[in-house]
Amino acid sequence: MPLKPEVMVCVNRRFGGTKPSCAERGSEALARAIEQALAEAGLTVPVTRSVCQNFCLEGPAMRVLPGPIIFKAMTLERVPEVVAAVARQFG
Ligand code: FES
Repeated sequence: MPLKPEVMVCVNRRFGGTKPSCAERGSEALARAIEQALAEAGLTVPVTRSVCQNFCLEGPAMRVLPGPIIFKAMTLERVPEVVAAVARQFG
């Protein structure tokens, strides 16, 4: 059975402590922006919200599966990079 494509965005949020978390750094807005950009590109790939992906110090973190292609320190300006990665694999 072929692996299904997916974009997995860490939306972990920590309350307390000193370790950063991706939700504090805007990953929920990133997930929404990626969903919109994929739809505009005609790519029907789900964007799932995940638990911590163990890149907390380099977040927001996300991955394109099944690669995985890992994205760290993501910004809204870099959303096209994710769309391009999806298109390369599944477009
Ligand atoms: S909180 Fe996002 S990778 Fe750990």
